Amino acid sequence: MSLLDKHQILEKNATLLLVGSLLVVTVGGIVEIAPLFYLENTIEKVEGMRPYTPLELTGRNIYIREGCYTCHSQMIRPFRDEVERYGNYSLAAESMYDHPFQWGSKRTGPDLARVGGRYSNEWHVQHLADPRSVVPESIMPSYAFLKSAPLDIKNIQANLVANVKVGVPYSDEMLANAEADLKAQANPDADTSDLQARYPKAVVGDFDGNPKAVTEMDALVAYLQMLGTLVDFSTYDEAAGYR
Ligand code: HEC
Repeated sequence: MSLLDKHQILEKNATLLLVGSLLVVTVGGIVEIAPLFYLENTIEKVEGMRPYTPLELTGRNIYIREGCYTCHSQMIRPFRDEVERYGNYSLAAESMYDHPFQWGSKRTGPDLARVGGRYSNEWHVQHLADPRSVVPESIMPSYAFLKSAPLDIKNIQANLVANVKVGVPYSDEMLANAEADLKAQANPDADTSDLQARYPKAVVGDFDGNPKAVTEMDALVAYLQMLGTLVDFSTYDEAAGYR
């Protein structure tokens, strides 16, 4: 009996074919999945990554609540056109503290993975309040109400604790100071040395231009201003990790 004939036995018997297919898929699955159980971490750690500050985290919550992700992705693909437009392609480690991640693939607007530091706070506030006043052809909705919405901070510590439960390494000290750190980051006159020690590169300021209140606009702009800024790509070498 030739190999072809033997194979026809399988092809002509539905039950045998099903059992055979199941066997092949099982072996293939085990070969792919089993090694992952023996890896300590599937994401290579990259220098510079740290958990979000409490203010950035609340800004991120507003980003999700307002559905910004329905028009904006946060993942620069490793293609020349994307890298030239947005900067270094995104590393897996850059979203290791994102729960849930904001990669997306829907780009009605530009990718925001490296928008941090590209514009001034004033530009962001003006753009969010009235997008067409700075980009006349924009179809982005207005989010002017964020300027008058006081930031709800009573759950900030619980929010950090929830992130700890899914693996974000907030220390006890970070948890204990969650509310103080949040207020300090939005106050340009505050002593922010503790905040900076806990969260290197944290950008401090009165983001919304209104020193009287901490608003949802403060938090959202603080979040936008840190996106993609933690890893220093002038020293990052993709082949060697760090030079
Ligand atoms: C209906 C789709 C849509 C939604 C929803 C949306 N945007 Fe946009 N966004 C755009 C478009 C289109 C542009 C490009 C034109 C412009 O700059 O306004 C843009 C531009 C931007 C830019 C400038 C990016 C750059 O590199 O120039 C930022 C920042 C931004 N959006 C933030 C946000 C945030 C934050 C939210 C949620 C509060 C949001 N967007 C919601 C469509 C959207």
